[in-house]
Amino acid sequence: MRSIIQTEKLGFHYPRQERLIFENLNISIKEGEMVGILGSNGSGKSTLLKHFNALIRPKKGAVLIDEKWNTKDPETWLDIRQLVGLVFQNPENQIVSTIVEEDIAFALENLGLPREEIKKRVNEVLKIVNMYEYRKRPPYQLSGGQKQRIGIASILAMRPKGIIFDEATSMLDPKGRKDILKIIHELNQKYGVTVLMTTHLLDEVASVDRIIVLNKGRIRFDDKPEIVFENREELEAMGLSIPTVTKLALDLKAEGYLTDSKKLILTKEEFVQAIQKDIGVRA
Ligand SMILES: Nc1ncnc2c1ncn2[C@@H]1O[C@H](COP(=O)(O)OP(=O)(O)O)[C@@H](O)[C@H]1O
Ligand SMILES: [Mg+2]
Repeated sequence: MRSIIQTEKLGFHYPRQERLIFENLNISIKEGEMVGILGSNGSGKSTLLKHFNALIRPKKGAVLIDEKWNTKDPETWLDIRQLVGLVFQNPENQIVSTIVEEDIAFALENLGLPREEIKKRVNEVLKIVNMYEYRKRPPYQLSGGQKQRIGIASILAMRPKGIIFDEATSMLDPKGRKDILKIIHELNQKYGVTVLMTTHLLDEVASVDRIIVLNKGRIRFDDKPEIVFENREELEAMGLSIPTVTKLALDLKAEGYLTDSKKLILTKEEFVQAIQKDIGVRA
């Protein structure tokens, strides 16, 4: 499998800091993967993600994109930013125009694409994020979740291979959060976009392919969610709380219930199935 993002002994500190925020990080993200990046506040998640579209460059080691571009080389930056898009926490900061469809067209115009192609792409991505009916609206009339969907559409219009979501749901209400998560999953599963996401809600990453946990400048875990979540106490000590259903299921198990389910329970659906099995109800 082709690696879309690869770090080699990556180390970084901001100017005037002596200590490295992280060092010796070897991470490889393969094309088509969906990966969650976790760590307590200030553990360096955003700093790491900014390395992946060349907004920040390494102090030590290297970051290679698509096996061919080294982020140290300024000539690769435009290509890298088209290949790997970054969606931030605050949707307000990503909006530049007064009409939704113009906002999405903006970056494409800068690329010098033909008018027809721009129109085609704008309509296409607005449909993917379920915002086609809003194409003529001014962004200020939209909810936070809708603005975030426009932010995602703008990046999708560049046809990136990968999208990075840095706490992209944290400023949204539950409905907005759910909509965005659904779109993120669809982008990965239906359109094959490589997805990297950070969140401090572990429920949101229960069904990703892989979770990488950063702690004290090192990679503490890099494994499937069900393996990582087994380290409940250690995660909680880092300020990361495993999903509520997972916790509840573990507590019930400790009391002698749910004895049949060997696997760690990660979702509500799995929880309901385990309960039904336990009390002898056929699903
Ligand atoms: N622009 C900056 N200049 C100096 N220090 C920064 C800057 N941005 C972040 N930091 C520091 O770097 C560390 C990692 O921050 P960050 O990458 O934002 O972590 P996270 O996203 O995991 O919360 C923190 O100690 C933070 O205070
Ligand atoms: Mg951050």
